[in-house]
Amino acid sequence: MSGKSELSSCRKGRLPSSSLVDDTYTIYGRLVDKDTMIYMLNSREGQDDALRVIPIVGAGGIGKTTLASMVFHEYKSSTRYFRLRNWLRGFENKSSNLNVFEVQGWACVSDDFGATCVIKSLLEYITGQESKVGSSLELVQHELMEKLRGKKFFIVLDDFRSDRLHYWDVLKTCFSVGALGSRVLITTRSKEVARIVTTTHDFIYELDELSLDESWFLFEDIVFQDRDLCKNRVLTDIGLDIICRYKGLPLTIKKIGLLLLSKGNDEVEWRKVLNNKTWEEARESS
Ligand SMILES: Nc1ncnc2c1ncn2[C@@H]1O[C@H](COP(=O)(O)OP(=O)(O)OP(=O)(O)O)[C@@H](O)[C@H]1O
Ligand SMILES: [Mg+2]
Repeated sequence: MSGKSELSSCRKGRLPSSSLVDDTYTIYGRLVDKDTMIYMLNSREGQDDALRVIPIVGAGGIGKTTLASMVFHEYKSSTRYFRLRNWLRGFENKSSNLNVFEVQGWACVSDDFGATCVIKSLLEYITGQESKVGSSLELVQHELMEKLRGKKFFIVLDDFRSDRLHYWDVLKTCFSVGALGSRVLITTRSKEVARIVTTTHDFIYELDELSLDESWFLFEDIVFQDRDLCKNRVLTDIGLDIICRYKGLPLTIKKIGLLLLSKGNDEVEWRKVLNNKTWEEARESS
């Protein structure tokens, strides 16, 4: 594959959305980000408490979906724990202070299938079953509202693209029927989307790039995994140069790392990757 075509897939860089984190490699950093997100989701002050919409905004491949997924699953496991604890105690205490969401749902908004499909995939996530309500927008909207009515919910809308902004009115209507404390987390590359969907500008979360150290650890994990390459001083030095130049975006680091992995110990090939300016272009356009 040529450098250019490797990069065009990087530039497009849209991976299929799933609430599950890709756990092939360790997730580096993001603990502070995760804690801040949890604070934003838990805190109860402010006029937007009834329904708070929190956008995570950042460049393509910076790790928005990964962060949303980490947070989403944190709540899933605390809800499971809460239910188990209450079951063991033989009662259901719905007024507990523990922030537990009665309903959690995840849907991707970048797919080209319309708002009806987004709502259907939310319904399917929530019920665990294929939605049988047909393809009328009104019917699926009604069905989702019935599932959310009076419940404290936590919904993630992943990869909300600016050309899908017209879905927002439809989705917002569905979200208006929940209980106090309901939350919607939206990942987006677009500041415009973030500005329009948010309920409070204080709660727009701009995700930073990985630090140099975090970038290096991820790179090392991919490139030097199971190999003796780290004993090769020259390759380690080229690797360090690469990371100094292309640090920050985990997707780019992964792409470069996997490319180097395929080049074995060939120093010439490693240098070509180091000097390939198209990685820079990919970063700039993401
Ligand atoms: N902190 C991290 N440590 C290691 N790998 C990470 C980290 N964050 C993200 N990744 C990996 O980088 C890739 C891109 O991450 P992710 O899909 O979350 O980016 P994104 O910001 O949602 O991109 P897009 O705008 O294209 O949706 C994924 O393979 C993910 O597993
Ligand atoms: Mg994403």
